[in-house]
Amino acid sequence: MATDSLTITDNRTGKTYEIPILYGTFPTYGAAIRSADLRQIKVSDDDFGLMGYDPAFMNTASCKSAITHIDGERGILRYRGYPIEQLAEQSNYLEVAYLLIHGELPSKAQHDEWVHNITHHTMVHENLKKFTDGFHYDAHPMGMMVSTLAALSTFYPASKRVTEADNRKLEIYRLIGKAITLGAMTYRHTKGLPYVSPDNDLSYTGNFMNMLWKMAEVKYRPNPILEKALDVLFILHADHEQNCSTNAMRSVGSSQSDPYCAAAGGTAALYGPLHGGANEQVLRMLRTIGSKDKIPQFIQDVKDRKALLMGFGHRVYKNYDPRARIIKRLAEQVFEVTGKNPLLEMALELERIALEDEFFVKRKLYPNVDFYSGIIYEAMGFPTDYFTVLFMIPRMSGWLAQWQEMITDTEQKIARPRQVYTGVAIRDFEPIEKRNKK
Ligand code: ACO
Repeated sequence: MATDSLTITDNRTGKTYEIPILYGTFPTYGAAIRSADLRQIKVSDDDFGLMGYDPAFMNTASCKSAITHIDGERGILRYRGYPIEQLAEQSNYLEVAYLLIHGELPSKAQHDEWVHNITHHTMVHENLKKFTDGFHYDAHPMGMMVSTLAALSTFYPASKRVTEADNRKLEIYRLIGKAITLGAMTYRHTKGLPYVSPDNDLSYTGNFMNMLWKMAEVKYRPNPILEKALDVLFILHADHEQNCSTNAMRSVGSSQSDPYCAAAGGTAALYGPLHGGANEQVLRMLRTIGSKDKIPQFIQDVKDRKALLMGFGHRVYKNYDPRARIIKRLAEQVFEVTGKNPLLEMALELERIALEDEFFVKRKLYPNVDFYSGIIYEAMGFPTDYFTVLFMIPRMSGWLAQWQEMITDTEQKIARPRQVYTGVAIRDFEPIEKRNKK
């Protein structure tokens, strides 16, 4: 008779163990054994017990989560059960942020209160500006974001009280609110422009655009098409379950450091070119290729392992990333306002050739979210090294939802992986003069 368990025979000892299997919402949404159950499998009483060895967490569930579901084989992404396509079409970023953090869509009253509280936490302490001022004019914006986020922690010492729900609520308002202000400050600093104060009349993305681009006009009025496009991009980037930066946020937060420092850790992880930094690399790659006729040679270089096709491939998606599909359509609307980015033609051709090539087909390499987003950002006027900030700002809501879920999960503890030690077992110390070394 079928039971929800695994029978393991240890051939070293001949002993048999029965280990229960636990499931997600449906068995197909994730089935796992508890790695701790393996510890009973020992060759002797003083044996530590069996562990799972899984570099890069290729097949390890680090948590139970009810926030985001990805079916990578079928190209499905849902936040709290809602398909990403419906949210991108019908919702707005702050509503999605509410959904991620609270688990349900807000009522009208809840929505208004949420928007009001985030809007009224967009201002930063004047002293924070000195941190941004201290950076060199060409400092990478993500380095500035990591540092200013961590600096914010010192302005809110009570944020350490992570187990208090009211306190978490306040820090969540602050972090989502101030993410756009910090992001805009790094941009203005790089350009040598004075910082712009938030304008509470505007939407979240409208306010962000105001703080980025307001010049001498009395009132900044965002272009509604670009404001909406940025909002949709923010929805698409809001969460993506246990990716590298979310894992960093959870891991740092698991020691109960405050959410500013944990978000600085998440931001540092996002910075890397294999994660959020890929959108920046896509543009650099397209410019390096230079023209459509050079694409076949570039594809050959990728196949010869001389280059990576940036913006392609994903640890989870083995199908078209649904976010890339939405962004591709969004590009058309943005280009009607900004004019077409000539790099789009190159990207489309690169995608066409790659998707027909056996190397990519066999490895199930498809465009990911970063493949087209940079082309839109560039058309909107963002410098290339700023793109990852546009990923980081909306990911803040996902990080906070995941952080809160972790803090309130009674099964979670400080994150502390094990290792399989492969070094020297034991040896005696030699004084330096006796070491037989050049
Ligand atoms: N170009 C060329 N080959 C690739 C690419 C790529 N972009 N991505 C994967 N491959 C190849 C690998 O060389 C490997 O081939 P092999 O089996 O013959 O050795 C195979 O495809 C599997 O790839 P892995 O690197 O094992 O996959 P992994 O899950 O570890 O990596 C990653 C995923 C990091 C995203 C990878 O696809 C990559 O480097 N892509 C380019 C960077 C990028 O776009 N990152 C953004 C990801 S989305 C995000 O973070 C928002």
